[in-house]
Amino acid sequence: MSAKLAILGGEKAVQMTYPAWPVHDEREVEAVTAVIRSGNWGGYPYPGPRTRAFLEKFLEFQGGQHAIMAANGTVTMEIALRAAGIGWGDEVIVPAYTFQATATAPMAAGAIPVIVDIDPQNYCLDPQAVEAAITPRTRAIIPVHVGSLMADMDALMEIAERHNLVVIEDCAHVHGMQWQGQGAGTLGHFGSFSLQSSKILTAGEGGVLICKTQELADAAASIVNCGRPPSEHGEVTVLGANFRSSELHAALAAVQLERLPTQTATREAAVSYMDEALSEIPGVRVLRPDPRITRRSVFQYIFAIEPAVWGVDHGAICAALEAEGLDAGIGYPPMHRYELFQPQQSRLPVPTAHPERFHFAEMDFPVATYAHEQEAVWLGEAVFRAGKAGVDQAVVAIRKVYEQRDALAEAVRGR
Ligand SMILES: Cc1ncc(COP(=O)(O)O)c(C=O)c1O
Repeated sequence: MSAKLAILGGEKAVQMTYPAWPVHDEREVEAVTAVIRSGNWGGYPYPGPRTRAFLEKFLEFQGGQHAIMAANGTVTMEIALRAAGIGWGDEVIVPAYTFQATATAPMAAGAIPVIVDIDPQNYCLDPQAVEAAITPRTRAIIPVHVGSLMADMDALMEIAERHNLVVIEDCAHVHGMQWQGQGAGTLGHFGSFSLQSSKILTAGEGGVLICKTQELADAAASIVNCGRPPSEHGEVTVLGANFRSSELHAALAAVQLERLPTQTATREAAVSYMDEALSEIPGVRVLRPDPRITRRSVFQYIFAIEPAVWGVDHGAICAALEAEGLDAGIGYPPMHRYELFQPQQSRLPVPTAHPERFHFAEMDFPVATYAHEQEAVWLGEAVFRAGKAGVDQAVVAIRKVYEQRDALAEAVRGR
């Protein structure tokens, strides 16, 4: 391999082709074919037999007692809020470092997303920042588990109990993850999972909501199914919508779920190996998993670089890594920078009614901003699904870019 960076015309460090996603074979084809032959394709009556069967298996794997399936992992959070009676004028605390859905879901339910900063050790919701943001109108917290790590659920549940708050875990990235032997999504009142095509359990689209009690699950099932009562009989008394997923999605998800335990074990072994390998590269800060994470799942892996050591920021490093053949990116902008939430742009009911809560120019989330502007490097799950060999190739690429950092810095300066 030439020492010259691929972005400057050298040979790529990554010689293997990372495995494509989603993994599939004849089992998926047969499962979908059986649904087509059955004639029961959709989501009505809700839930259909394949949806029920999938949810039962999902709960066996993830933990929890009650779950519903819906169209995606955004509406599951809106449904959770509405099932818990949270709506107009209520405040919902969300992290500054997440996909926009974590804040659009409260807005769709009529609630105000209150953005707070993240913890630099795990890039997840900072419990101290949560505590500081609580007001008499706060009703819920949505911790998001990102970067193959989890928010400190012990601290967050303690705060929630003290202030009587509902906790909805956004588990879009962490199917299979466990905290002290308990599945992510089963620690709070709700756990919301996305089955969108890139996620580590996918049906192309779809979402699962784990609910703490039968009562909450019934309320959620009703909202998903146009406000019908869970038994299907009786009058519509709840404002719901058609948030249903289909039997086709459930059939696909069930086959994908059979693959998930092995994939999780492969990625988990690979991610520990990655942590060790990266900790030997100067200027890399590994985000170490909390020892209370007892099973680690990997969707996007994040490490932090020290720009002063590398002489360039993470944007240049990610571009160089991409050229070397790695799926690398800089991750999310801090939540208050998303165009979507700027009140003058959105004309949405919540920002329009509460403009004082959307003065983003006056807000400051230094940890999330620094992650976005300088230090975070995100790697995709395929590196880990490819096992030790996948990690070895990634480390060769990262080390190469580190060793050639002066050439990279010079190229950036000359741009
Ligand atoms: C953190 C997070 N939450 C929620 C979602 C929403 O999931 P969906 O795309 O299924 O609506 C995503 C999707 O990318 C996500 O990354």
